Amino acid sequence: MVKVSPSILSADFCNLERDIGRVSGADWLHVDVMDGMFVPNLTIGVPVVQSIRRHTDMFLDVHLMIDKPARYVDQFCKAGADLLSVHLEADHPVRIADALRAMEANGVKKAVALRPITSARAVLPYIEQLDMVLVMTVEPGFGGQKFMESQLDTIREVRALIDRYNPACELEVDGGVAPGTAERVIEAGATVLVAGSAVYGAEDPARAVENLRRGEETG
Ligand code: DX5
Ligand code: ZN
Repeated sequence: MVKVSPSILSADFCNLERDIGRVSGADWLHVDVMDGMFVPNLTIGVPVVQSIRRHTDMFLDVHLMIDKPARYVDQFCKAGADLLSVHLEADHPVRIADALRAMEANGVKKAVALRPITSARAVLPYIEQLDMVLVMTVEPGFGGQKFMESQLDTIREVRALIDRYNPACELEVDGGVAPGTAERVIEAGATVLVAGSAVYGAEDPARAVENLRRGEETG
């Protein structure tokens, strides 16, 4: 069954512990780190990840939307991340490889993320060592945007590469995932769904997680 990773970007940051508790039945917890450079928004940094770690045992799936992420990998690992995603567009390939090596050294799971403009084949130099590929289905930076239908092709292409080179690798999809899009994303080959507004905008976030996990259209 597919995993669901609720994005706390849509939570109430003054009630983060309460809002994390509301999705404690989810598989993972998605933490969006933005630097105002790689994306035009600022969100969460290392101290917040550290605090979250102290308050939950959930698997922390940390999405780094920052320039030159290798600079911060050690800090996010030590803060308690279980998995880190770095964007392939955020630095030169040699520095992306450094970032992955630092994750490995810290015993943290390794992922690369793709903006919508990036081709699926960009994962090829790394795929055999990855625990996950993250495909964006909106332009990174903000929650609550519309799902980009055209990214279904990228999801299928990444799925084919994973099946061929590293079948154990997870395929996470992030952006506009909601009842109505979740089913198609799963069909295209995703194994992890990120959902911010679809979970925290729902009356019952725990139920919203369950519905997404089943890829249901209603509720
Ligand atoms: C966007 C973030 C997403 C965001 C998703 O840049 O990476 O994780 O929280 O939000 P929704 O599910 O509302 O599109
Ligand atoms: Zn994200």
